[in-house]
Amino acid sequence: MPTYLIIGGSSGIGRALVDQLLTREDAEVHVWAREQRDLPGTVRFTPIDVTDEASDLKSAVPEEVHGLAYCPGSIDLRPFRSLKPAAFREAFELNVVGAVRCLQATERVLKKGGSASVVLFSTVAVQRGMPFHASIAAAKGAIEGLTRSLAAEYAPAVRVNAIAPSLTDTPLAEKLLSSDEKREASAKRHPLNRVAPASEVAAMAAFLLSDQAASITGQVIGVDGGLGSI
Ligand SMILES: NC(=O)c1ccc[n+]([C@@H]2O[C@H](COP(=O)([O-])OP(=O)(O)OC[C@H]3O[C@@H](n4cnc5c(N)ncnc54)[C@H](OP(=O)(O)O)[C@@H]3O)[C@@H](O)[C@H]2O)c1
Repeated sequence: MPTYLIIGGSSGIGRALVDQLLTREDAEVHVWAREQRDLPGTVRFTPIDVTDEASDLKSAVPEEVHGLAYCPGSIDLRPFRSLKPAAFREAFELNVVGAVRCLQATERVLKKGGSASVVLFSTVAVQRGMPFHASIAAAKGAIEGLTRSLAAEYAPAVRVNAIAPSLTDTPLAEKLLSSDEKREASAKRHPLNRVAPASEVAAMAAFLLSDQAASITGQVIGVDGGLGSI
C-alpha cells in the first residue's frame, strides 16, 4: 500500500495532488497543514505549523512514507528596497527551513522502503530574473540547491526532485489573478498564453511520486507555460 505525506496538502497545488493520489489503488494519504479545510474524510490529517519550532513533527510521521511533497510557500512581491532582512528570513523559514525540518523528521521512514520519492517546490523566478521577486527567488534558489544535494546524498534509496511553476491558479496567487484583466495580462506573459490550473502542476508532482519516474532524480522541472526557457 503506497503511503504519501503531503505537507501543505489542504490548499492549492498540494490539495490537487491529494485528490490525484487518492485515485491510486490502496493509497494512504497523510496531510500536514495548519488547517484541515475541506479535505476528504479518508485523508489522515495532522495540524502542524512547519515554522513552529515547538511542533513535534517526529510523532506525526507515518510508519512508512513512499512519497513526500513539501508544498508550503509564499509570494511576497516587492521592490528590493522595501524588502527588510526580516522578509528574507520569513521566506527562508517557510520555504526552506520548514522543508528541512520535515525531511529530517521523515528521513528514516523515507529510506526504509528503498525507493521513496520527494518533491519540493521552486519557482520560475529562480531560472529567469524577474523584478520584485528577490526574497522568494533567493529562498527558492536554496530549494533548488537542496534538491540536488539531497538527491546525491539519498541516492539510490530516495529520489529528490523539484517543480518550478510559474503563476498558478491557487489561493496563494489569488490577488494576482483577481480580475479578468489581471488573468489575461498574466496569461500573455507566458509563451503558451495561459495560467496553469493547480491540477496541471499537481499532475507533475504525482508523476514524480510514481514509479514511472524511477529514473528521475536531482531535477528541477519547469511547469511554467514556457516562461523559464523561451
Ligand atoms: N501559486 C503560484 O502561483 C506559485 C508559483 C510558483 C511557485 N509556487 C509554489 O508552489 C507551492 C504550492 O503553492 P500553492 O499556490 O499551492 O500554495 P497555497 O495555495 O498557499 O497552499 C499552501 C499549503 O501549505 C500550507 N501551509 C502554509 N503555511 C504553512 C505552515 N506554516 N505550516 C504548515 N502548512 C502550511 C497551507 O495550509 P495552511 O495555511 O492551513 O497551513 C496549504 O495547504 C509553494 O511552495 C509555492 O511557493 C506557487
